[in-house]
Amino acid sequence: MSPDPELSPRRAARAEAERLATAALTITPAADAPTRRQLRAESGLAAEQEGSGIRALLAVRGLTLAARRRRAGVLAAAMLIVVAGAVAIGAAASAGGAGPVAESADVDASTLVAGPPAVPDEGLPVPQIAAVAATATPCDDPAFTAALASGDDAAAIAAAGGGSAFRAAVAAGVAPCVSLSDPNREWVVVNKQRPLDPLDYRAGDLVMPQNVRALEESSLRSAPASALTELVRAASDAGAGEIGYLSAFRSYATQQSTYAGRVDVGGVEEADRESARAGYSEHQTGLAVDIVPCDGSCGTLDDIASSSQGAWVRDHAWEYGFITRYAEGRESVSGYLPEAWHQRYIGRELARAYHEGGYTTLEEFFGLPAAPTY
Ligand code: DAL
Ligand code: ZN
Repeated sequence: MSPDPELSPRRAARAEAERLATAALTITPAADAPTRRQLRAESGLAAEQEGSGIRALLAVRGLTLAARRRRAGVLAAAMLIVVAGAVAIGAAASAGGAGPVAESADVDASTLVAGPPAVPDEGLPVPQIAAVAATATPCDDPAFTAALASGDDAAAIAAAGGGSAFRAAVAAGVAPCVSLSDPNREWVVVNKQRPLDPLDYRAGDLVMPQNVRALEESSLRSAPASALTELVRAASDAGAGEIGYLSAFRSYATQQSTYAGRVDVGGVEEADRESARAGYSEHQTGLAVDIVPCDGSCGTLDDIASSSQGAWVRDHAWEYGFITRYAEGRESVSGYLPEAWHQRYIGRELARAYHEGGYTTLEEFFGLPAAPTY
């Protein structure tokens, strides 16, 4: 096929921009890391197949998901630079008389000959790598830091550009002003590797959810309490039936006796798969609630998974800011057997990002290590 004369100058410009961006972003591999050439040789792939082939090999070689996400982040930055460079070069070439010709009705055919774009006297524009890096963190944004300082988690997430952008910045490690250990935040992550700080932390704004059947006198922080009220109303309106709850906030002392009760029944090993030790439970944050299905009388925690209420919650709880924290088959990451009843509030925008991203653990959502044991 003969070359498309209209596209050739753009291709050349893009190739130059790619060359510049690739040179700027070259990462020195660790001494024992496989080179792309070695990986390609191992895979027997042609150069144009190497992207997907090498990803597969990296996965086989046990690179972590986080490492592959970081790699994706670098590639995304490279793509931004390439696109920016190509646009800038196109503009420069256009100004120099070698720009796109398709918009001109009376084109001189001699100008359509394929070849490199004219290089302006001042040289090719240099991709602005520093500008890309500087906009990557929300911590430089006064609106974000002001929302953080005021304790308005929802406003902070909005200032960061929404739940997905917030998550991406935190997981990429470019949001040092965000602490996943702050128990007052809706995004706090508590697990067997991440105790509460302080260990006997007690949530501050505890209230009883309105218009929800409470089988225990157990409160929630005000945001999840209001969200639970809305969730329960929506489930009922949708014909899924009534949702009640057993346990929500548990103090350090209550968690101590809850855990001790499990140990008495099944021993430490079994207890640790089902119940958190005091200081390590989401219930201490006032952001978690154990729901049950009610139909006249209420069922048990174990009844929720197979109930119409449980089915509705699986599909819709995220719309109210809740996630099922201990999902089926994720004990090796979350540390616990599945608990369809344990709903954890992370706020609506983060729950949306969690749902839309297909996440099943909060650890993976935020790029944290798995926490199977203490
Ligand atoms: N059942 C959950 C893991 C807790 O005790 O917090
Ligand atoms: Zn629970």
